[in-house]
Amino acid sequence: MLLEKLNWRYATKKMDPSKAVPEDKVERIVEAARLAPTSSGLQPFEVFVVTNPEVRAKIREIAWNQAQVTDGSHLLVFAAWDNYTEDRINEMFDLVNEERQFTNEGWENYRKMLLSTYPARDAQVNFEHAARQAYIAFGMSIAQAAFEGVDATPMEGFDPAKLDEILGLREKGLRSVTILPLGYRQAEGDWLVNLKKVRRAREKFVTEVK
Ligand SMILES: Cc1cc2nc3c(=O)[nH]c(=O)nc-3n(C[C@H](O)[C@H](O)[C@H](O)COP(=O)(O)O)c2cc1C
Repeated sequence: MLLEKLNWRYATKKMDPSKAVPEDKVERIVEAARLAPTSSGLQPFEVFVVTNPEVRAKIREIAWNQAQVTDGSHLLVFAAWDNYTEDRINEMFDLVNEERQFTNEGWENYRKMLLSTYPARDAQVNFEHAARQAYIAFGMSIAQAAFEGVDATPMEGFDPAKLDEILGLREKGLRSVTILPLGYRQAEGDWLVNLKKVRRAREKFVTEVK
């Protein structure tokens, strides 16, 4: 059950550098991101799976020296489109038509509406919209990792401009949003592992409008 898994997971502070996450588990964690819902189905982000030790060492330096970046075996980087362009929108709509083998007037009108609004907007506004979609996928990967019994640390604690440079993201029209080290907890050295999970009480969180 999802809730059990969400109670099991925690933002792991210390990972065991001697344990690697099997590739099939990593694949499913990435697949959960690919299957995430996105606004208009545009999937305006990509996921980088970084295993290269030198690259991860460089990333750690610009991520507050957080050890999980190199102690985990895989580092997922969620990178959003830097802007919405006509090409990007058309590519996704064309893919849908190709895969479904039909076109539909309502769908084509919707494409036109997006083409006439998104590319004209400020690039920063578009990037922020794309980044919000990346966060949904990030959450899906966090949940799937828990299902796989894999520890993960959701992270915003890094310098995005420097990470973009390390991975050459800007040249690809992408900007980093979040990172997710994957690995296995090393209870010894992890100050959080035995602490209670704390969340605001339901009454302070949910408002029922009946
Ligand atoms: C978007 C986001 C960014 C985060 N950035 C970091 C981070 O850089 N380093 C870290 O150790 N934890 C980070 N966290 C973990 C949170 O502090 C943690 O999820 C929160 O305190 C709740 O605890 P739990 O995840 O253990 O239940 C981040 C979480 C999210 C969702």
